[in-house]
Amino acid sequence: MQKIAYVNGSFVPGEQAMVPVTDRGFLFGDGIYEVTSVIDGRMVDNELHLARLQRSLGEIRIAMPAPLERIREIQHELIRVNDLSEGMVYIQVTRGAAERDFVFPAADVAPSLVMFTQQKNLVGAPSGVKGLKVMTFPDLRWTRRDIKSVNLLAQVIAKQAAAEAGCNEAWMLDGEMVTEGGSSTAYILTANDTIVTRPRSTMTLSGCTCAALQTLIVERGLKLEERPFSLAEAKAAKEAFATSATTLVAAVVEIDGEAIGDGKPGPVATELRRLYVERARAS
Ligand code: PDD
Repeated sequence: MQKIAYVNGSFVPGEQAMVPVTDRGFLFGDGIYEVTSVIDGRMVDNELHLARLQRSLGEIRIAMPAPLERIREIQHELIRVNDLSEGMVYIQVTRGAAERDFVFPAADVAPSLVMFTQQKNLVGAPSGVKGLKVMTFPDLRWTRRDIKSVNLLAQVIAKQAAAEAGCNEAWMLDGEMVTEGGSSTAYILTANDTIVTRPRSTMTLSGCTCAALQTLIVERGLKLEERPFSLAEAKAAKEAFATSATTLVAAVVEIDGEAIGDGKPGPVATELRRLYVERARAS
Protein backbone atom coordinates (compact mmCIF):
# COMPACT_ATOMS: atom_id res chain seq x y z
CA MET A 1 0.00 0.00 0.00
CA GLN A 2 1.25 3.48 -0.91
CA LYS A 3 1.97 5.42 2.28
CA ILE A 4 0.35 8.79 2.74
CA ALA A 5 2.14 11.75 4.32
CA TYR A 6 0.98 15.26 5.18
CA VAL A 7 2.89 18.28 3.85
CA ASN A 8 1.76 21.84 4.46
CA GLY A 9 -1.98 21.40 4.06
CA SER A 10 -2.14 18.33 1.79
CA PHE A 11 -2.24 14.58 2.22
CA VAL A 12 0.05 13.20 -0.50
CA PRO A 13 1.61 9.86 -1.48
CA GLY A 14 4.91 9.44 0.37
CA GLU A 15 7.09 9.83 -2.71
CA GLN A 16 5.47 13.20 -3.49
CA ALA A 17 5.94 14.46 0.07
CA MET A 18 8.50 17.21 -0.46
CA VAL A 19 9.63 20.55 0.90
CA PRO A 20 11.71 23.13 -1.01
CA VAL A 21 15.51 22.97 -0.72
CA THR A 22 15.35 26.40 0.89
CA ASP A 23 13.41 24.98 3.85
CA ARG A 24 15.25 26.18 6.96
CA GLY A 25 15.02 22.73 8.49
CA PHE A 26 17.14 21.45 5.59
CA LEU A 27 19.55 24.42 5.49
CA PHE A 28 19.99 25.24 9.19
CA GLY A 29 18.34 22.46 11.18
CA ASP A 30 16.00 25.29 12.18
CA GLY A 31 13.10 23.18 13.34
CA ILE A 32 11.48 20.96 15.95
CA TYR A 33 10.19 17.40 15.80
CA GLU A 34 8.12 14.98 17.83
CA VAL A 35 7.64 11.23 17.77
CA THR A 36 4.51 9.64 19.24
CA SER A 37 4.27 5.88 19.45
CA VAL A 38 1.23 4.00 18.21
CA ILE A 39 0.16 0.72 19.82
CA ASP A 40 -3.02 -1.10 18.73
CA GLY A 41 -3.73 1.83 16.38
CA ARG A 42 -3.80 4.32 19.28
CA MET A 43 -1.32 7.04 20.18
CA VAL A 44 0.50 6.76 23.51
CA ASP A 45 1.11 9.82 25.73
CA ASN A 46 0.30 12.04 22.75
CA GLU A 47 -0.81 15.02 24.83
CA LEU A 48 2.64 15.11 26.46
CA HIS A 49 4.29 15.08 23.02
CA LEU A 50 2.03 17.86 21.71
CA ALA A 51 2.72 19.96 24.81
CA ARG A 52 6.48 19.50 24.33
CA LEU A 53 6.13 20.40 20.63
CA GLN A 54 4.47 23.66 21.65
CA ARG A 55 7.11 24.34 24.28
CA SER A 56 10.08 23.61 21.97
CA LEU A 57 8.61 25.82 19.23
CA GLY A 58 8.08 28.63 21.74
CA GLU A 59 11.70 28.36 22.93
CA ILE A 60 12.99 29.06 19.40
CA ARG A 61 10.17 31.45 18.46
CA ILE A 62 8.52 29.43 15.70
CA ALA A 63 4.75 29.92 15.56
CA MET A 64 2.50 26.88 15.84
CA PRO A 65 1.85 25.91 12.18
CA ALA A 66 -1.76 24.93 12.95
CA PRO A 67 -3.97 24.75 16.04
CA LEU A 68 -3.21 21.72 18.25
CA GLU A 69 -6.68 20.40 17.51
CA ARG A 70 -5.86 20.29 13.78
CA ILE A 71 -2.47 18.62 14.36
CA ARG A 72 -4.20 15.96 16.44
CA GLU A 73 -6.77 15.44 13.65
CA ILE A 74 -4.01 15.00 11.06
CA GLN A 75 -2.27 12.45 13.29
CA HIS A 76 -5.50 10.43 13.54
CA GLU A 77 -6.12 10.72 9.80
CA LEU A 78 -2.58 9.50 8.96
CA ILE A 79 -2.98 6.51 11.29
CA ARG A 80 -6.30 5.74 9.61
CA VAL A 81 -5.28 6.09 5.95
CA ASN A 82 -2.02 4.23 6.52
CA ASP A 83 -3.80 1.54 8.53
CA LEU A 84 -1.12 1.83 11.20
CA SER A 85 -1.45 -0.60 14.06
CA GLU A 86 2.02 -0.30 15.64
CA GLY A 87 4.77 2.23 15.00
CA MET A 88 5.02 5.97 15.22
CA VAL A 89 3.64 9.27 14.01
CA TYR A 90 6.32 11.83 13.21
CA ILE A 91 5.78 15.60 13.26
CA GLN A 92 8.30 18.16 12.03
CA VAL A 93 7.85 21.91 12.11
CA THR A 94 10.47 24.22 10.63
CA ARG A 95 10.74 27.98 10.31
CA GLY A 96 9.68 27.62 6.67
CA ALA A 97 11.28 28.16 3.27
CA ALA A 98 13.03 31.44 2.54
CA GLU A 99 16.12 32.85 0.87
CA ARG A 100 19.17 31.59 2.81
CA ASP A 101 19.94 33.98 5.65
CA PHE A 102 20.86 33.17 9.24
CA VAL A 103 18.46 35.82 10.52
CA PHE A 104 14.79 34.83 10.83
CA PRO A 105 12.81 35.39 7.61
CA ALA A 106 10.04 37.99 7.33
CA ALA A 107 6.93 37.42 9.42
CA ASP A 108 4.91 36.39 6.34
CA VAL A 109 7.03 33.24 5.85
CA ALA A 110 4.85 30.46 7.21
CA PRO A 111 6.34 27.63 9.24
CA SER A 112 6.41 24.29 7.47
CA LEU A 113 4.49 21.29 8.87
CA VAL A 114 5.37 17.78 7.75
CA MET A 115 3.90 14.62 9.24
CA PHE A 116 4.14 10.94 8.38
CA THR A 117 3.79 7.51 9.95
CA GLN A 118 6.24 4.66 10.17
CA GLN A 119 5.38 1.07 10.95
CA LYS A 120 7.63 -0.43 13.64
CA ASN A 121 7.56 -3.38 15.96
CA LEU A 122 7.59 -1.77 19.43
CA VAL A 123 6.11 -4.14 22.02
CA GLY A 124 7.80 -7.25 20.60
CA ALA A 125 11.03 -5.55 19.44
CA PRO A 126 13.88 -8.00 20.18
CA SER A 127 16.08 -5.27 21.75
CA GLY A 128 13.20 -4.26 24.02
CA VAL A 129 12.48 -7.81 25.10
CA LYS A 130 16.08 -9.10 25.36
CA GLY A 131 17.53 -5.83 26.64
CA LEU A 132 19.74 -3.17 25.12
CA LYS A 133 23.48 -3.26 24.68
CA VAL A 134 24.78 0.25 25.25
CA MET A 135 28.02 1.90 24.21
CA THR A 136 29.13 5.18 25.77
CA PHE A 137 30.13 8.16 23.66
CA PRO A 138 31.00 11.79 24.46
CA ASP A 139 27.97 14.08 24.46
CA LEU A 140 28.82 16.44 21.60
CA ARG A 141 25.56 18.45 21.69
CA TRP A 142 24.74 22.10 22.34
CA THR A 143 23.57 23.25 25.77
CA ARG A 144 19.81 23.51 25.06
CA ARG A 145 19.10 19.81 24.95
CA ASP A 146 15.65 20.43 26.42
CA ILE A 147 14.57 21.68 22.96
CA LYS A 148 13.63 18.81 20.64
CA SER A 149 15.58 20.25 17.74
CA VAL A 150 16.01 18.47 14.40
CA ASN A 151 19.78 19.04 14.81
CA LEU A 152 20.60 15.43 15.56
CA LEU A 153 24.14 15.15 14.22
CA ALA A 154 25.73 14.44 17.62
CA GLN A 155 23.17 11.68 18.23
CA VAL A 156 23.57 10.28 14.71
CA ILE A 157 27.34 10.02 15.23
CA ALA A 158 26.98 8.48 18.70
CA LYS A 159 24.33 5.97 17.61
CA GLN A 160 26.29 5.02 14.46
CA ALA A 161 29.39 4.32 16.59
CA ALA A 162 27.21 2.20 18.90
CA ALA A 163 25.67 0.31 15.97
CA GLU A 164 29.12 -0.38 14.49
CA ALA A 165 30.13 -1.83 17.87
CA GLY A 166 27.08 -4.15 17.79
CA CYS A 167 25.15 -2.07 20.34
CA ASN A 168 21.53 -0.85 20.28
CA GLU A 169 21.96 2.53 21.94
CA ALA A 170 24.63 5.09 22.88
CA TRP A 171 24.71 6.62 26.36
CA MET A 172 26.19 10.07 26.04
CA LEU A 173 28.74 11.26 28.58
CA ASP A 174 29.41 14.70 29.97
CA GLY A 175 32.78 13.92 31.61
CA GLU A 176 32.09 10.98 33.92
CA MET A 177 28.35 11.63 34.04
CA VAL A 178 25.71 10.02 31.84
CA THR A 179 23.45 12.63 30.28
CA GLU A 180 21.02 10.40 28.35
CA GLY A 181 20.73 7.98 25.47
CA GLY A 182 21.17 9.05 21.85
CA SER A 183 17.38 8.88 21.56
CA SER A 184 16.22 7.78 25.01
CA THR A 185 16.22 8.66 28.70
CA ALA A 186 18.68 6.77 30.93
CA TYR A 187 17.99 5.22 34.37
CA ILE A 188 19.73 3.02 36.91
CA LEU A 189 18.48 1.01 39.88
CA THR A 190 20.89 1.40 42.80
CA ALA A 191 21.87 -1.19 45.41
CA ASN A 192 19.22 0.24 47.77
CA ASP A 193 16.51 -0.19 45.11
CA THR A 194 16.19 3.45 44.14
CA ILE A 195 15.52 4.34 40.52
CA VAL A 196 17.77 7.23 39.51
CA THR A 197 17.32 9.49 36.48
CA ARG A 198 18.26 13.08 35.75
CA PRO A 199 15.96 15.92 36.81
CA ARG A 200 14.37 18.22 34.22
CA SER A 201 16.98 20.73 33.03
CA THR A 202 18.55 22.13 29.86
CA MET A 203 21.14 19.30 29.98
CA THR A 204 18.76 16.65 28.61
CA LEU A 205 15.51 16.29 26.73
CA SER A 206 12.70 15.75 29.23
CA GLY A 207 11.17 12.51 28.02
CA CYS A 208 7.41 12.14 27.71
CA THR A 209 7.77 8.41 28.35
CA CYS A 210 9.81 9.30 31.43
CA ALA A 211 7.06 11.60 32.71
CA ALA A 212 4.42 8.89 32.21
CA LEU A 213 6.65 6.22 33.74
CA GLN A 214 7.35 8.30 36.83
CA THR A 215 3.63 8.14 37.65
CA LEU A 216 3.77 4.34 37.37
CA ILE A 217 6.94 4.21 39.49
CA VAL A 218 5.28 6.21 42.26
CA GLU A 219 2.01 4.24 42.01
CA ARG A 220 4.05 1.07 42.31
CA GLY A 221 5.65 2.35 45.52
CA LEU A 222 9.18 2.30 44.08
CA LYS A 223 11.76 4.85 45.23
CA LEU A 224 12.70 7.50 42.70
CA GLU A 225 15.56 9.97 42.89
CA GLU A 226 16.12 12.66 40.25
CA ARG A 227 19.84 13.37 40.03
CA PRO A 228 22.70 12.82 37.59
CA PHE A 229 24.57 9.51 37.84
CA SER A 230 28.06 8.54 36.70
CA LEU A 231 29.16 5.82 34.31
CA ALA A 232 30.87 3.99 37.22
CA GLU A 233 27.59 4.03 39.15
CA ALA A 234 25.74 2.72 36.10
CA LYS A 235 28.19 -0.15 35.62
CA ALA A 236 27.85 -1.12 39.29
CA ALA A 237 24.05 -0.75 39.31
CA LYS A 238 21.64 -3.60 40.01
CA GLU A 239 19.78 -2.71 36.83
CA ALA A 240 19.80 -0.07 34.13
CA PHE A 241 17.11 0.81 31.62
CA ALA A 242 16.03 3.33 29.00
CA THR A 243 12.75 4.86 27.88
CA SER A 244 11.51 6.59 24.74
CA ALA A 245 8.45 6.69 22.53
CA THR A 246 9.92 3.96 20.34
CA THR A 247 11.88 1.98 22.97
CA LEU A 248 8.98 2.13 25.47
CA VAL A 249 10.80 0.82 28.57
CA ALA A 250 13.79 -1.41 27.82
CA ALA A 251 16.33 -2.98 30.16
CA VAL A 252 20.01 -2.22 29.55
CA VAL A 253 21.93 -5.49 29.86
CA GLU A 254 25.41 -4.32 28.92
CA ILE A 255 27.41 -1.07 28.97
CA ASP A 256 30.70 -0.94 27.06
CA GLY A 257 30.83 -4.73 27.00
CA GLU A 258 30.33 -5.08 30.79
CA ALA A 259 27.22 -6.92 31.97
CA ILE A 260 24.75 -5.04 34.16
CA GLY A 261 23.57 -7.30 36.99
CA ASP A 262 23.54 -10.83 35.60
CA GLY A 263 23.47 -9.55 32.01
CA LYS A 264 19.75 -10.26 31.59
CA PRO A 265 16.81 -7.82 31.82
CA GLY A 266 16.25 -7.16 35.53
CA PRO A 267 12.92 -7.69 37.31
CA VAL A 268 12.23 -3.97 37.88
CA ALA A 269 12.83 -2.93 34.25
CA THR A 270 10.84 -5.95 33.03
CA GLU A 271 7.91 -5.09 35.32
CA LEU A 272 7.98 -1.41 34.31
CA ARG A 273 7.95 -2.36 30.62
CA ARG A 274 4.97 -4.65 31.22
CA LEU A 275 3.11 -1.96 33.19
CA TYR A 276 3.82 0.74 30.61
CA VAL A 277 2.54 -1.41 27.72
CA GLU A 278 -0.48 -2.49 29.76
CA ARG A 279 -1.32 1.16 30.50
CA ALA A 280 -0.83 2.14 26.83
CA ARG A 281 -3.19 -0.66 25.74
CA ALA A 282 -5.80 0.31 28.30
CA SER A 283 -5.80 4.03 27.43
N1 PDD B 1 13.75 10.37 20.84
N2 PDD B 1 16.35 11.86 24.95
C1 PDD B 1 16.58 12.06 23.65
C2 PDD B 1 17.86 12.69 23.24
C3 PDD B 1 15.62 11.69 22.69
O1 PDD B 1 15.84 11.92 21.39
C4 PDD B 1 14.42 11.07 23.11
C5 PDD B 1 13.34 10.65 22.15
C6 PDD B 1 14.23 10.86 24.49
C7 PDD B 1 12.98 10.24 25.04
O2 PDD B 1 11.88 11.09 24.84
P1 PDD B 1 10.40 10.52 24.74
O3 PDD B 1 10.19 9.60 25.90
O4 PDD B 1 9.55 11.70 24.83
O5 PDD B 1 10.32 9.80 23.43
C8 PDD B 1 15.21 11.28 25.38
C9 PDD B 1 12.78 10.03 19.83
C10 PDD B 1 12.03 8.78 20.11
C11 PDD B 1 13.47 10.03 18.47
O6 PDD B 1 14.31 10.89 18.28
O7 PDD B 1 13.16 9.20 17.62
